[in-house]
Amino acid sequence: MNRKFKKNILCIGAGYVGGPTMAVIAAKCPEYKITVVDINEQKINDWNSGNIPIFEPGLEEIVNQVKNKNLFFSTNIEKGIEQADIIFVSVNTPTKTFGEGAGKTADLQYWEKTARSILQASRNDKVVVEKSTLPVKTAEAMERILNSGDDNINFQVVSNPEFLAEGTAIQDLLNPDRVLIGSRETPEGIKARKQIVEIYRHWIPVHKIITSNIWSSELSKLVSNAFLAQRISSINSISALCEKTGADVEEVAYSVGSDSRIGDKFLSASVGFGGSCFKKDILNLVYICESYGLYEVAEYWENVVKINEFQEQRFVRNISKAMFNTIANKKITLFGFAFKANTGDTRESAAIYVTRELLAEHALVTITDPQALDNAKIDLKDHIQQLSFESDPYQAAVGAHAIAVLTEWDVYPKLDYQRIFDSMEKPAFIFDGRNILDHRKLFEIGFNVYPVGKPHLNHF
Ligand code: NAD
Ligand code: UDX
Repeated sequence: MNRKFKKNILCIGAGYVGGPTMAVIAAKCPEYKITVVDINEQKINDWNSGNIPIFEPGLEEIVNQVKNKNLFFSTNIEKGIEQADIIFVSVNTPTKTFGEGAGKTADLQYWEKTARSILQASRNDKVVVEKSTLPVKTAEAMERILNSGDDNINFQVVSNPEFLAEGTAIQDLLNPDRVLIGSRETPEGIKARKQIVEIYRHWIPVHKIITSNIWSSELSKLVSNAFLAQRISSINSISALCEKTGADVEEVAYSVGSDSRIGDKFLSASVGFGGSCFKKDILNLVYICESYGLYEVAEYWENVVKINEFQEQRFVRNISKAMFNTIANKKITLFGFAFKANTGDTRESAAIYVTRELLAEHALVTITDPQALDNAKIDLKDHIQQLSFESDPYQAAVGAHAIAVLTEWDVYPKLDYQRIFDSMEKPAFIFDGRNILDHRKLFEIGFNVYPVGKPHLNHF
């Protein structure tokens, strides 16, 4: 153990959660040595070389402050485990794609592999922290694996789910609404919990640190994401009704959200929510409910995902319908491919579904995005011959019959739409899947404008 530091903290998994979370802990706890390990050698090289593998505002600055001082990236997982007092596990827990529970429950193979690596490489007592989002009761399985060894090593499993959102990860980590730490309520469990509280106490006020039993903590993470996604599906379902009735979904959301009991956040109608978490975590919740025989509860939450799929389908149907029921051989330019602004992440982005459906109708699709083109090419690798990718939005729009805004990047409302209109085929259409553009102005320029959940403005 390096005597220069008070404690050694290890994080297994150098992804969207592990990297930023550990960078902030390192910045706030200079007396701790933080090591982040990953099986992906390229990713570790990228973190080390300064070519940070994820785009996240403010991340680079904070990593540069602490890297090679008290934050280290390595592929030596075994050494990391051996030296650690506390091990955060933030490996991916995607939806299972095979066998029982396929399409719903979490695939825990990466998770279990880390549990076995921890058991094999440990020589002294450890606190193991679940940072990944996991099905409730996973800690029990983790404990069983960790306690299956012959050595007399004490492992305490603590749940500390992460609530950061991509694009605002650093702000969320520096100033979270709450930090949740769940543990067994035994003397050893409480002692382990205190060690994790002690880390966050470096910068988080005590009233924002919630402690609970371990199952409440695991479940609260799934439920938080389910509630957030439910709000989006609620407003998206109403956007469909607005389009039929002439109501304006933004006006409805404003009125509804002004009730302090409801609140105004997460009420922006859109082409549909994406990201690696919402769908995965809701389906996980659905599967858990089903496995306990709570079919009505499962169905209730599954509908949040179904409404999201309905919203994505509606968006494509609206494009086709507005463009005279045929988009074959028409150029359609997508403004944005990331699942939200300020990230290059495209996991579960509505843009993936929209692109595939447009291609199925034989449209000619061009994609532009400030950060996500590399990921878009990977997502659509089976269709790469049929697509164009263009980083400059003006260039991407030349000769297009329609533009579809899929990500709410700041840059899109600021573009010169007269210039864009002049370069497009006529009649020119805009489908604003994020309601971020000035629709009246676009209409005056000559566009036929189709927002989400608002009356469309067209010239015929
Ligand atoms: P990610 O895919 O970006 O990163 C996970 C990393 O773990 C990868 O780099 C992978 O190579 C590594 N890994 C997998 N198995 C490993 C092993 N056995 N040993 C060492 N490294 C291993 O995933 P992420 O987005 O950071 O998500 C991680 C977890 O955090 C998930 O459970 C997710 O649900 C949860 N979460 C994610 C977010 C988010 O915004 N992305 C927010 C909150 C919680
Ligand atoms: C989410 C949770 O917010 C975060 O707490 C959790 O830790 C991880 O999952 P993230 O997926 O990174 O974070 O982004 P988020 O801001 O929640 O957006 C998710 C999706 O919902 C995006 O596609 C976003 O564009 C969409 N969205 C969000 C809407 O369509 N309307 C809204 O009002 C808000």
